[in-house]
Amino acid sequence: QLGWNLIVLEKVDSTSQQIKLLAQQGAKSGTIIVAEQQTNGKGRLGRQWCSPFGTGLWFSILLRPQILPEKIAGITLATGLAVCNAIRQYTTLNAQIKWPNDVIIGNKKVCGILTEMVSQSNKIEYVVVGVGINVNTLNFDDEISCKATSLAKELGKNINREDFFTQVLDKIQEEINKYLSSPDSSISTDYIQLCATLGRQVVVNRGNNTITGTAVAIANNGDLVVQTEDGKAVLINSGEVTVQGIY
Ligand code: BTN
Repeated sequence: QLGWNLIVLEKVDSTSQQIKLLAQQGAKSGTIIVAEQQTNGKGRLGRQWCSPFGTGLWFSILLRPQILPEKIAGITLATGLAVCNAIRQYTTLNAQIKWPNDVIIGNKKVCGILTEMVSQSNKIEYVVVGVGINVNTLNFDDEISCKATSLAKELGKNINREDFFTQVLDKIQEEINKYLSSPDSSISTDYIQLCATLGRQVVVNRGNNTITGTAVAIANNGDLVVQTEDGKAVLINSGEVTVQGIY
């Protein structure tokens, strides 16, 4: 069973970058680095993650799971579900998940997750799950301000980051343990219930081709199943998905 070993830092380039250095020195599974500020926070698809001082929860978790590399998508989905549940329990907000792992409130993003893996000959050496939650952030960069929000913005008041963090880590522990104890079972019904993408029109950007259709299901490996107009079911495992009415 997974337990935490928490390292709190003031200012780092990126908590994921820092935890990789520890991983290479042999740090244990369950080590977490959380920072007040990141000067070079990394998002998915090579983007930046805006991480101003003292306003959010910017943290990275080191895991050394005994699963096949192709199973790591489930860890990311479990983490997104955990954050979504933590928000729903700690606040009155109706948090949902935009597949695969953005946590949204209404049509805006409140949390992003970036999972990175180092593996050798089909064996995982380690996984870094980087989580950014906009907790009390009020100002976002211009490029993202139309699609980003924070718990404080939605609630109209600040929340206690320490208490909320405890809740988040408990939930992540619960969901990751659940997943790692049966990585072959089908996608959790909780995830499906909270997934705002399902049933909506989506546009998937796959490099130079674009797929449009309806998101109809999530496959057991975490892929999104999109039904196109000609009735074909297409499996999507990454890339950029735009959901009608969200972003
Ligand atoms: C996304 O693009 O949605 C993923 C954002 C992930 C941001 C978090 S903040 C903590 C950790 N350290 C990083 O540099 N990135 C992740």
